[in-house]
Amino acid sequence: MGTQVTTTLRLLMFPWLAYGHISPFLSVAKKLADRGFLIYLCSTPINLKSTINKIPEKYADLIHLIELHLPELPELPPHYHTTNGLPPHLNHTLKKALKMSKPNLSKILQNLKPDLVIYDIMQQWAEHVANEHNIPAVRLLTFSAAVTSYFVNLVKKPGVEFPFPDIYLRKIEQVKLGEMLEKSAKDQEPDDEERLVDGYIQIALICTSRTIEAKYIDFLSELSNMKIVPVGPPVQDPITNDADDMELMDWLGTKDENSTVFVSFGSEYFLSKEDMEEVAFGLELSIVNFIWVVRFPKGKEQNLEDALPKGFLERIGERGKVLDKFAPQLRILNHTSTGGFISHCGWNSVMESIDFGVPIIAMPMHLDQPMNARLIVELGVAVEIVRDDDGKIHKGEIAETIKNVITEKTGEKLRGKMRDISKNLKCTRGEEMDVAAEELINFLNNSAKLN
Ligand SMILES: *[C@@H]1O[C@H](CO)[C@@H](O)[C@H](O)[C@H]1NC(C)=O
Ligand SMILES: *[C@@H]1O[C@H](CO)[C@@H](O)[C@H](O)[C@H]1NC(C)=O
Ligand SMILES: *[C@@H]1O[C@H](CO)[C@@H](O)[C@H](O)[C@H]1NC(C)=O
Ligand SMILES: *[C@@H]1O[C@H](CO)[C@@H](O)[C@H](O)[C@H]1NC(C)=O
Ligand SMILES: *[C@@H]1O[C@H](CO)[C@@H](O)[C@H](O)[C@H]1NC(C)=O
Repeated sequence: MGTQVTTTLRLLMFPWLAYGHISPFLSVAKKLADRGFLIYLCSTPINLKSTINKIPEKYADLIHLIELHLPELPELPPHYHTTNGLPPHLNHTLKKALKMSKPNLSKILQNLKPDLVIYDIMQQWAEHVANEHNIPAVRLLTFSAAVTSYFVNLVKKPGVEFPFPDIYLRKIEQVKLGEMLEKSAKDQEPDDEERLVDGYIQIALICTSRTIEAKYIDFLSELSNMKIVPVGPPVQDPITNDADDMELMDWLGTKDENSTVFVSFGSEYFLSKEDMEEVAFGLELSIVNFIWVVRFPKGKEQNLEDALPKGFLERIGERGKVLDKFAPQLRILNHTSTGGFISHCGWNSVMESIDFGVPIIAMPMHLDQPMNARLIVELGVAVEIVRDDDGKIHKGEIAETIKNVITEKTGEKLRGKMRDISKNLKCTRGEEMDVAAEELINFLNNSAKLN
């Protein structure tokens, strides 16, 4: 690819212990490996175990997995060294345990002596550990620029309204956010504070593209006094023909072009019982084809028959598929029968849907999702299923929205817009990463001069 790297630079990448963070880090790792960097991807053994089969053979010598061992706290055995399936009350313990593993990260850095550490903002302390070894560090932001700048504005300019009115929170979302910020303020530790590095321009990488977020990227640069460098959407490795998915893909193949909605809320967000019923009845009323991935928290698994309204599966018959296991999301999004994606609007899912050109029916739940939903509505590639003032969704609204996207003019417009954006993204995807790789090299050169 474009960038000439004369010496092999070695980067240690250190994502938060959640799939939603490891996945974009791995995607960037592959793109950097394509440009001549050698990557150490550092995480806990349990996370690396599920990551290893997501690394194609050609990266075997370019991306090395490095195990970080956390202290063994009695309440946090090694199989809980990941957010996947972690009982929610232990999430602070996990964050604490990760931080306690500082000495182990330090040892890793001492042994490997990478040229650069790329870390997650969930563990800003990693920057200090790197600097103790005279290793420069930059962060990789895994949220959208709209969301990141919204939060930075909130923290740095309290009382100053966010200057982009398309990105806003509804009343009930504001209340939830307020509660969350209050809680996280209590956990805030002094060294989590922003530190300004003098002498050279700090940079941060972000998982987005100027094609969709130029103004938010610029605003974030200005707010944070850093060069914010987009790395583009995730790489999509060629989709493999997994025999397990054959029946589902054959079924999808029998449906008309753009006729089917894919319904999935990610692996870490779960519908309440009420929401589940409304979604089921909404799908039933819409009379469109669907694939619905239903997930339950670990330890709270249920029979599909029990979780769904009585007789739902019989009434749906061949029109829909309900899965309570892993679904081949990328294959489904890449299929011509798929005409819409009902999504919680986690940033990774949004980027994938845009990349495959599938319009989004937004059903955000919390954290960054509502603002991602507003962003893609602003871009003209999504419509939102709006919750009422009590935060409830309604089957009528769900059915109408689905019908609009799959069978009405609205859908055509969204698909057209989505196709344009998707095309532009494909044109710039290599370029943005080439620029990002150059920025990293410049940054390393500049920090070497300072040391
Ligand atoms: C972490 O746990 C708290 C309560 O135990 C919960 O309110 C919060 O949503 C959890 N955070 C995440 C990201 O799951
Ligand atoms: C460091 O790793 C070892 C295993 O190699 C583990 O037993 C120990 O608890 C870890 N220490 C910290 C502080 O995380
Ligand atoms: C998507 O499907 C097309 C064929 O329909 C195929 O050429 C392409 O490689 C697929 N995309 C990925 C990422 O595999
Ligand atoms: C399906 O959507 C694509 C755009 O994504 C469009 O080119 C195509 O004409 C649509 N097909 C039908 C049958 O509407
Ligand atoms: C970085 O510095 C090296 C050695 O000083 C030099 O060869 C290289 O061209 C520089 N790269 C960039 C992108 O400035």
